[in-house]
Amino acid sequence: MNIIDGIKHRRTIKMFKPDPIREEDLLTWLEAASYAPNHRMNEPWEIRFVGAQTRAKLQHKTDFGGAPVVLAVLSKPAPTPFERDENVMAVACFVQNLLLAAHEAGAGVFWSSMGHSPQNREILGVPADYDVIGVLGIGYPAEVPALKARTPITSKIAYLP
Ligand SMILES: Cc1cc2nc3c(=O)[nH]c(=O)nc-3n(C[C@H](O)[C@H](O)[C@H](O)COP(=O)(O)O)c2cc1C
Repeated sequence: MNIIDGIKHRRTIKMFKPDPIREEDLLTWLEAASYAPNHRMNEPWEIRFVGAQTRAKLQHKTDFGGAPVVLAVLSKPAPTPFERDENVMAVACFVQNLLLAAHEAGAGVFWSSMGHSPQNREILGVPADYDVIGVLGIGYPAEVPALKARTPITSKIAYLP
C-alpha cells in the first residue's frame, strides 16, 4: 500500500469483528506510531490499555463497536501552554501513524474523544495535568463505511505575497 492510498482509504471503523489482535502486531503498530514528529524528541505519548473492568465503567454507547482492544492515548504535561499544545500536536501525529499502520494491516480504529470528560478521566486514572488525545477501539472491521469526500484543498489555500 502506498502512503497516499493508505491515507485516503483509511476510515473510522465503528463495527468490529470479535477476532483478537495479536499483541505482537499491536506493538509493531505502536512502535511505528512512535516515529511521529515531536519537538525536542520529548516523545510525549503514553498508552493505557483499557481492561474489561475499566471498559465496562466507561459505558461507551456501542462499547467501541465490539473492538477487541481499547486503549487510551495520553499527552504528557509541559511547563508552558505552548509546549503543552506542541505535545498534543505530536500525540495527534502519533495517533494518525497508528491508524495508518493498523489500516495497512487490514485492521481499523475507532477514535473516540470520550476520554475528555472529567468522569471518564477519573475512570481512566488520568493525572490532572495530562491530556487525553483519544480512547481508541482497535480491531478488524466488520463494516467499513463509505469514503467521506473532502472539500477541495484548493479552497483552503491562500498564497501570501
Ligand atoms: C480528535 C478526534 C476525535 C474524534 N472523536 C470522535 C468521537 O468521539 N466519536 C466519533 O464517532 N468519531 C470521532 N472521531 C472520528 C471522526 O468522526 C472521523 O474521523 C470523521 O468523521 C472522518 O471520517 P474518517 O475518519 O472515516 O475519514 C474523532 C476524530 C478525531 C480526529
